[in-house]
Amino acid sequence: MSDAVTLGTPLSPAAIKVMLLGAGELGKEVVIELQRLGVETIAVDRYGDAPAQQVAHRAHVIDMTDASALRAVVQAERPHIIVPEIEALATAELLEIEKAGLATVIPTARAAHITMNRERIRRLAAEELGLPTSPYAFASSLEELQAATVRIGYPCFVKPVMSSSGKGQSRLKSPDDIGPAWQKALEAGRVREARVIVEGEVRFDFEITQLTVRSVDGTHFCEPIGHVQKEGDYVESWQPQAMGEAARAKAREMAGAVTGALGGRGIFGVELFVKGEEVWFSEVSPRPHDTGLVTLISQYQSEFALHARAILGLPVNCDMCAPGASAVIYGGVEAGALKFDGVAEALAVPHSELRLFGKPQSFVKRRMGVALARGSDTDQARARAARAAAAIHPRAVT
Ligand SMILES: Nc1ncnc2c1ncn2[C@@H]1O[C@H](COP(=O)(O)OP(=O)(O)OP(=O)(O)O)[C@@H](O)[C@H]1O
Ligand SMILES: [Mg+2]
Repeated sequence: MSDAVTLGTPLSPAAIKVMLLGAGELGKEVVIELQRLGVETIAVDRYGDAPAQQVAHRAHVIDMTDASALRAVVQAERPHIIVPEIEALATAELLEIEKAGLATVIPTARAAHITMNRERIRRLAAEELGLPTSPYAFASSLEELQAATVRIGYPCFVKPVMSSSGKGQSRLKSPDDIGPAWQKALEAGRVREARVIVEGEVRFDFEITQLTVRSVDGTHFCEPIGHVQKEGDYVESWQPQAMGEAARAKAREMAGAVTGALGGRGIFGVELFVKGEEVWFSEVSPRPHDTGLVTLISQYQSEFALHARAILGLPVNCDMCAPGASAVIYGGVEAGALKFDGVAEALAVPHSELRLFGKPQSFVKRRMGVALARGSDTDQARARAARAAAAIHPRAVT
């Protein structure tokens, strides 16, 4: 790892320029942290007025899966550092950009390339690193899927190898579910090539996100984050998740191994399943994790601050300041711009905070904001965050 970059002055020849690929709510918080350090920021997304674009110095709207469009925006802006915020990128082009020495890709172009595909990251974790995972198989046709489910058994999960946020994912209980699962995966997959992973169901006690930071002075671990998922989307998270000493140590060891293999600098969200003393690796994001939004209130340095610091080669501190929780606020309506009723009521909840992302368009299940709260323990923090989130009533502007 190289040393700290010398920070400068934005919009001048002395600027350090960082380009975010993906400009959602997680990127918005990263941009805010970079802005605080006088970094010049450029936010790229596939649509205009995306959350991070609203706080960055400049914005570009391109198809980020298009290699030539990606190359063109990098050549036009010449950022020192490129920070992927989503998975669906032309990662092969990122490898080329990195190889040509055009920019540093966070954490590495290879990490972005491996983690955007469930097959690559699963083979790395299970077959190269020997981490425990659910039993798995891959399939590229309905016939192969049928054969794979025979090997894996039921219940099992079918997921397109290239998809995120639960898209195209099914939980199968019997052979009757195979046909619909294949159809759903085909429709949601990111690319026309049809390929899925079949995973046996892990009967865990709970699941965690082990935020892990690779910084100039080594690897750092945040306290484990517990979360609840509904339909492949997180609805609630809290920190710390109470867990036994043995499982906690295993989680850190596994997170250290997989992030070490991916390399580079920055924060990683390592998703793990826990049952008693047993821990299974599920997947990893080489970027801030949505369940980690809770760290905006529970840590001195949020996952976004940690990412910004690590990227710039600066020291990090993962200490918590209080038990905390986050609760997601959905749009609830299909609409353009929203108004939010109940904000004062939400913020009257003790030790609560709110983030409204400013997304220009709402869907019923689109994450439009998040309520955050501290408490004397996570139960109290969760109750407060839930109360604050429930007080918010988004409505379409008529
Ligand atoms: N093999 C499994 N055993 C048990 N539960 C699982 C398994 N695979 C997925 N799940 C459940 O489904 C959730 C979503 O799965 P996964 O993280 O693979 O999907 P994703 O599309 O990558 O979602 P995201 O992008 O939001 O992380 C998990 O957090 C877990 O609750
Ligand atoms: Mg996941």
